[in-house]
Amino acid sequence: MSLLQIAPLRDWPTKLDELAAAHHAEWSPLIGPDWTLDVARAELHDSCGDAPLPATFVAVQDGEACGSVSLLVDDADDLRGYGGPWLGSLWVSPTYRRRGIGARLVRHAVEEAARRGVDRLLLFTPRHAAFYRSLGWADVGGARVRGEPVDVLSCYPRIAMQS
Ligand SMILES: CC(C)(COP(=O)(O)OP(=O)(O)OC[C@H]1O[C@@H](n2cnc3c(N)ncnc32)[C@H](O)[C@@H]1OP(=O)(O)O)[C@@H](O)C(=O)NCCC(=O)NCCS
Repeated sequence: MSLLQIAPLRDWPTKLDELAAAHHAEWSPLIGPDWTLDVARAELHDSCGDAPLPATFVAVQDGEACGSVSLLVDDADDLRGYGGPWLGSLWVSPTYRRRGIGARLVRHAVEEAARRGVDRLLLFTPRHAAFYRSLGWADVGGARVRGEPVDVLSCYPRIAMQS
């Protein structure tokens, strides 16, 4: 088994289609039919440009894209009042879950946000608030996205990198 590597998706463009299909399978039932595979692919493509944000990072092991995380300018339309930027689209392939890859991806994204000078990073989650709290994220409050209750959490990347 090779070492897990985490790198910008822009450095691994051959993984884009594989990730888009995985993201689409994971989230299209929640987001709805307008979020087609082409839209998922276009969003990932947008996060491979020259701008600091948006950016996507992919975890690769044994040649397989086994996880990813993104830094986004905006995430859900319902949460625009919170500002941004956002950590979003955290995903680990089902066969690789509960091995610490999700936690590594979150830490990697926080480190990359610090490098980009982000003061405060936000995320929302319907089910995994405890997971993020265990990684040092703090509760901002409750909200609704597409009618579903979510927790909004924040972290301060530059401070997190010093601790
Ligand atoms: C949420 C998600 C990214 C977590 O990824 P993961 O790689 O399983 O995350 P980790 O392994 O770092 O941690 C997950 C749990 O496994 C536990 N764990 C980590 N390593 C472990 C190990 N070696 N053995 C047993 N458990 C372990 C962690 O303590 C954590 O426990 P918790 O559920 O009580 O918080 C993954 O389940 C996923 O992709 N879900 C679908 C998409 C999704 O919901 N994304 C999040 C949107 S907010």
